[in-house]
Amino acid sequence: MEAYNVALFRRQVGAARREIGVTGWRVTRGSLLASLLLSGLLLPGPAAADADGKAVYEKNCAGCHGPDGKGATPAGKALKVMDLGTKQWAAPEAIPEIEKAVREGVPRMPPLGTKLKPEEIAAVARYTQEMVAAGNPQQ
Ligand code: HEC
Repeated sequence: MEAYNVALFRRQVGAARREIGVTGWRVTRGSLLASLLLSGLLLPGPAAADADGKAVYEKNCAGCHGPDGKGATPAGKALKVMDLGTKQWAAPEAIPEIEKAVREGVPRMPPLGTKLKPEEIAAVARYTQEMVAAGNPQQ
């Protein structure tokens, strides 16, 4: 993608330079900007819009809840974290509850609503469910 964009950029600059003689710099500058926008160079990529739930979980949750949501980490044991792999948290209706817990915190869990963006909270709630579903196929 990176290499593709650089090649495309060079081609567009070349085309823009060729245009200067005919159309003048004013028009060319506009068409160069338009083609840069079209090629996606100046637009945020999909990574910015679609937060990676796994990365958010590993960075912000796994220390207490463990990589599998069972809470078997030293911090998890000290704080008496419950196993997230139960029916209660696996149900689709639990998504807003997980998001609320992350945003506002619960008695022994700190709120992360100012640290994480709404799309990161949504992504981590989805990931929490996928993760516990994968680790607890019977439940
Ligand atoms: C500092 C440790 C810690 C971190 C970090 C942490 N949690 Fe928790 N979490 C807890 C503890 C402790 C509880 C149990 C709280 C209680 O019962 O008072 C809990 C409870 C929960 C619950 C159940 C909430 C409820 O209503 O009972 C969910 C869901 C949850 N955590 C998800 C997450 C997710 C997702 C993250 C990361 C974005 C996260 N936690 C980060 C310690 C933590």
